[in-house]
Amino acid sequence: MGKDVIIALDFPGREETLSFLDRFTGKKPFVKIGMELFYAEGPDIVREIKRRGHKIFLDLKLHDIPNTVKGGMRSLSRLDVDMVNLHASGTIAMMQAALEGLTRPDGTRPLLIAVTQLTSTDQERMEKELLIEKPLAEVVMHYASLARQAGLDGIVCSPLEAGKAHERCGANFLTVTPGVRFAGGDAGDQKRVTTPEKARELGSDYIVVGRPITQADDPVEAYERCLAGFVG
Ligand code: C5P
Repeated sequence: MGKDVIIALDFPGREETLSFLDRFTGKKPFVKIGMELFYAEGPDIVREIKRRGHKIFLDLKLHDIPNTVKGGMRSLSRLDVDMVNLHASGTIAMMQAALEGLTRPDGTRPLLIAVTQLTSTDQERMEKELLIEKPLAEVVMHYASLARQAGLDGIVCSPLEAGKAHERCGANFLTVTPGVRFAGGDAGDQKRVTTPEKARELGSDYIVVGRPITQADDPVEAYERCLAGFVG
């Protein structure tokens, strides 16, 4: 897989999601299905979007004991998605079990990437609530290394961390980066944002873009603009 734009389908249900996708006549963007849509519609919505020919990142962020995550990943492996994720804080044993569960009998599997520290966690909360006293950036890179050691394919991170992650874990270690906005666009609840052009310059492999595309007057034009800025 090469550089691509992944549209976050943060919609409450099937109808809104499919009518959004219907606007992309002749195009099959890579899409992300998260908790909101999956918990509302279940595996059927994944199958239906896959049948329409889209690549899918199933963003369910698994985190449990290794055996349970292995079983969960085995179920997800049957959905024929292209990318799934988990929390690196579940430890190397959990990540290795996840990889085992995800690998199909024929040896193929979706890409598996790790969430390091959520972008909603700041230094103060990490220290006071999680009792982790190292600098946040160091914690993110440490978790990236754990994911690498476990054999995962990459991490979710800010575009601003993509270069460091590649330095630390290798050029082929994927960086999947949300927090992307057009120049002058509304940042919403995202704190550290970059443009598609900047994300490309910083070395992101995939950008995940939600509201700048889903809430645009012309989502297809916004998607094309993201692609042009990021992929060229
Ligand atoms: O609308 P927006 O472009 O902010 O959407 C970004 C998407 O990426 C959302 O689906 C959000 O849940 C997801 N995400 C994120 N930050 C992370 C992990 C996932 O924004 N650290």
